[in-house]
Amino acid sequence: MLSTLITITTLFVLSSAQSWVPSGDLPVDFSLTFSAPEMVYDVCNRNFSQSARTITIATTGVPVTPGETANDPTAMAISGASSGDMFTILMVDPDTPSADVGTTEKPLLHMLITNITNSDPSTGAVLDPYRGPMPPPCSGDHTYHYLLLRQTAALSLTVDDLPQYTPDCTLANLAGRCLFEVANFISSNQMTPVGYVTMVAATDGYVRYSYVNDRGMSEADSCRGLDGYESCPTAPPGSSSEKITVSLSTVMASALCLMYSFIVS
Ligand SMILES: *[C@@H]1O[C@H](CO)[C@@H](O)[C@H](O)[C@H]1NC(C)=O
Ligand SMILES: *[C@@H]1O[C@H](CO)[C@@H](O)[C@H](O)[C@H]1NC(C)=O
Repeated sequence: MLSTLITITTLFVLSSAQSWVPSGDLPVDFSLTFSAPEMVYDVCNRNFSQSARTITIATTGVPVTPGETANDPTAMAISGASSGDMFTILMVDPDTPSADVGTTEKPLLHMLITNITNSDPSTGAVLDPYRGPMPPPCSGDHTYHYLLLRQTAALSLTVDDLPQYTPDCTLANLAGRCLFEVANFISSNQMTPVGYVTMVAATDGYVRYSYVNDRGMSEADSCRGLDGYESCPTAPPGSSSEKITVSLSTVMASALCLMYSFIVS
């Protein structure tokens, strides 16, 4: 009976974690730094203010806002590696509300840099430039995972090779990025995860402002979930149960899909 319990527990744990998330102590220290500017976003009939601060992502679960991390990281650092090691840095979001964009096993690719030498990320070849968090309203917390992968040799990958890791991606404007097969990418290229950090962000004034002013989305959709606007289909913003899964209506799902096509255009 105990063994049955253990089996059930193990199955549960296995099915709830992404297979590509590294576990245990990793040998290389890896961090990113963002310099958040002081900003005010005037949208949804209110002013959202953001303070200036320097944010270092050197562990898992660092809380940030999309506005604070909208610009490229000001620094990425690798330390404790052997000289001669080559690295790839990969950033993904498995928490997209649309299953056409990303899932737990096949997240949305946000950044990919390969052939990093001398523990200096600026030496790498940028296959997909950094794209900051843009979590749609009512989609809850998104965890952005950064993996530092050790290469066995220089990679001859180009940006044209990326769609082979996104065979299920049908959104033309996200080719090579949506439903990215992280586990397949790592094993096909014989890489070893050696560093791992994450940051967590939910919709903020910057996202809502960008949707209204840069992406041409309606104020009603961009401001959803705030006082004075239509509420989210599930729990209110900020709660961990907010993430839309089974309760998502078809109408909302296509609206979110549309949002994503705005986001990346
Ligand atoms: C936001 O702040 C600006 C500058 O103080 C002000 O002009 C504007 O009316 C404010 N917007 C709202 C919606 O309160
Ligand atoms: C990685 O380095 C190798 C050897 O210098 C080179 O042939 C290859 O094009 C590089 N890859 C990228 C993506 O630039």
